[in-house]
Amino acid sequence: MVKVNENYLKLKAGYLFPEIARRVQAFSQQNPQASLIRLGIGDVTEPLPSACCNAMKKALDEMNTHEGFHGYGPEQGYLWLREAIAQNDFKARGCEISADEIFISDGSKCDSSNILDILGTGNRIAVTDPVYPVYVDSNVMSGHTGEADNQGCYSGLSYIPLTAANGFEAAIPNYPVDLIYLCFPNNPTGAVATKKHLSDWVNYAKRNDSLILFDAAYEAFIQDSSLPHSIFEIEGAKDCAIEFRSFSKNAGFTGTRCAITVIPKSVNGKTVNGEEVDLWALWNRRQSTKFNGVSYIVQRGAQAVYSLEGKSQISSLVSFYMENAEIIRNKLLKVGFKVYGGENAPYVWIKTPDNKNSWEFFDFLLEKANVVGTPGSGFGASGEGYFRLSAFNSRQNVLEAMQRITSI
Ligand code: MLT
Repeated sequence: MVKVNENYLKLKAGYLFPEIARRVQAFSQQNPQASLIRLGIGDVTEPLPSACCNAMKKALDEMNTHEGFHGYGPEQGYLWLREAIAQNDFKARGCEISADEIFISDGSKCDSSNILDILGTGNRIAVTDPVYPVYVDSNVMSGHTGEADNQGCYSGLSYIPLTAANGFEAAIPNYPVDLIYLCFPNNPTGAVATKKHLSDWVNYAKRNDSLILFDAAYEAFIQDSSLPHSIFEIEGAKDCAIEFRSFSKNAGFTGTRCAITVIPKSVNGKTVNGEEVDLWALWNRRQSTKFNGVSYIVQRGAQAVYSLEGKSQISSLVSFYMENAEIIRNKLLKVGFKVYGGENAPYVWIKTPDNKNSWEFFDFLLEKANVVGTPGSGFGASGEGYFRLSAFNSRQNVLEAMQRITSI
């Protein structure tokens, strides 16, 4: 009989969001009359920007002609999209990232886990706690951890707590690690990293020869102009960081699928014999073998994000969701909740009231308000006693959910 990857057996229960969906489905079956409002998974609700739709329609029409047909595209993505990204997301912010350091993919979730394909075993790995569960689970699946303890912490990983007491700031460890996952604006806490804080991380990585995997999926939601949108705004980051970005949240591509991974040509890893190896070349090799690129149509849609019309439509989408976040914050603050995040990120992180644990509060809100959120403990042990509400929903649903929660 075929042997299985036993690392999967170390995973705790289901992946967080399917587990929530399972509980919500069970509740709905028992309470078919309940009209649920979902502020759980950070999935966008507003229509795609018309600039993107028009570009995709045009691309689809091209595909219906001999001259405009496109078969397999470059595994790295079309150059016109990579050039638009290099110019608008990086050069415009003073970062020297070139088009060929940019890889287009169908998602940051996939890339942030697939990246482990090119990294070896035996790395000392640090994650924040709470954390986007994909970073941890993908390391478990790859056999980079031992078993989980009863709080869900895996042996072999270092956890950096993000708590109200430390202002949700990822403290620089006083021990060396080889690989660090950072996500700012942070999912799930909505916390942000200043330039000084990211510089401290880059200096740490350079001192310790570590690699930072920087998830910037929520950069478009930053409102404070002093905050960095990319780790490459920090001097020295091109020697020690890989960045993931996504069109999912800013342009509403969660169902359309397009994302970006940036691997500067100056980032190296090493073999067990100490020989330096270019990570760009390994990722390029990996993508060329295992990936056939994102569809021409979708890449044309993503390119339209950088048109004048696209930029203005995206800015309206971001403002819309950030107004939702402000409504959530203000309504909850007014009735005495302790509320964090939501000012530069589409997630509001709340302290659960009455000492309820995260799942108790999840059940309480589901039953009493028919509102679905995400239990903080699902993101890690330090998320216990917290709860995440997503600002990705219609205005009507956000207002209705706040009305229900504040009148329980
Ligand atoms: C979340 O809710 O944390 C996100 O939607 C997850 C993701 O982007 O994969």
